[in-house]
Amino acid sequence: MSEAFELPEAGPLPEAGPLGGSVTVVGQGGAVGRELLALLGEWGQSPESIVGLGRGAEPGSGAGDVVFLCTPAEVSRAWAAALAAQDEPPRVVVDLSSAARRSAPLIVPEANGALLRELGGPRAQQPLLLAGPNCTAALAAVVLAPIQRVAGLAAVSLVSLQAASGAGAAGLAALEAEEAGGRALESPFPGPLARNVIPGVGEGRAGEASGEEQKVLWELRQLLGRGDLELEVTTTRVPVERCHSLALHLTLERDLSPEAAVELLEGSPGLVVHMEPHGPRPLECAGTDPVHVGRIRRGSAGPRSLSLFAVGDQLRKGAALNALQVAALVCASDRS
Ligand SMILES: NC(=O)c1ccc[n+]([C@@H]2O[C@H](COP(=O)([O-])OP(=O)(O)OC[C@H]3O[C@@H](n4cnc5c(N)ncnc54)[C@H](OP(=O)(O)O)[C@@H]3O)[C@@H](O)[C@H]2O)c1
Repeated sequence: MSEAFELPEAGPLPEAGPLGGSVTVVGQGGAVGRELLALLGEWGQSPESIVGLGRGAEPGSGAGDVVFLCTPAEVSRAWAAALAAQDEPPRVVVDLSSAARRSAPLIVPEANGALLRELGGPRAQQPLLLAGPNCTAALAAVVLAPIQRVAGLAAVSLVSLQAASGAGAAGLAALEAEEAGGRALESPFPGPLARNVIPGVGEGRAGEASGEEQKVLWELRQLLGRGDLELEVTTTRVPVERCHSLALHLTLERDLSPEAAVELLEGSPGLVVHMEPHGPRPLECAGTDPVHVGRIRRGSAGPRSLSLFAVGDQLRKGAALNALQVAALVCASDRS
């Protein structure tokens, strides 16, 4: 029961604006790196203050005040170690891979952003390493955190419908090739994705939760501060370019009517509520910042059950935007 746990507090969302220093994006050519560079531009970061690096770069080279690691986990590990060993390390390193998620703070401001307050202060010797969460866990946390605070979560069932670009630039290229009638030579998927649904995102063995399902289980419990949460996760890959969708069925500890849930979610940061019967949908939500939530309705178990459908751009709030937000909050607290 959530009463036994100290629930994490949300923190503020930063105003969009330049980070106030130099920024390095490692993995600039990947799906997340490209999105982050676009976002930095939207946030007014001057082009001359941004260094983008790719495969040929030596770990630790070209590091600015803030470094984003938009790279595979093993590459991120090498970079984080090299940066930590520097005489003048960067102020903040945000690793968007899974490498540091069990050792570094894992933060989604709308769910547990208050944790960032404890990370302030001088850090002359070591850079502050923060981990970017799994995209599905991040999107789900934005929706579930306010509901948990008001009504408590007894159990959650989550089914994801994940976009091709969740598997990076290669995933998107594979879908595009298949949709054009061909077959990608190096598809990251275990079977054809166009006109198909592939259950079990990530590595997996028969009879076990897939790699993605294990990440979502651990990280969502972590973000919600609920190691005990009864949570069932089924992930699927669908032939959508970008935006993950989530079907959520909740058992609550206290009554919450659908009308009260709409009001709650409308007043919660990072969320947009949709009232139409057939939305939100990934195609129309692609490229937007908030998590979109709709189909808010009572579950069959009465006033302590609630069903919802959420859609979020996993390259933005599920990855680049969340990383930029936490870096901006740290930089702002360093200046104050
Ligand atoms: N895609 C998502 O929705 C999403 C969401 C959340 C988190 N993430 C995580 O974010 C990270 C990046 O994902 P992605 O989807 O952007 O993957 P991606 O499209 O495959 O891009 C990976 C990037 O890493 C670069 N890279 C590979 N080896 C490198 C090396 N040795 N040194 C420097 N750069 C290197 C690649 O460079 P080249 O272009 O030269 O190959 C590429 O730009 C992954 O850890 C992923 O798990 C992804």
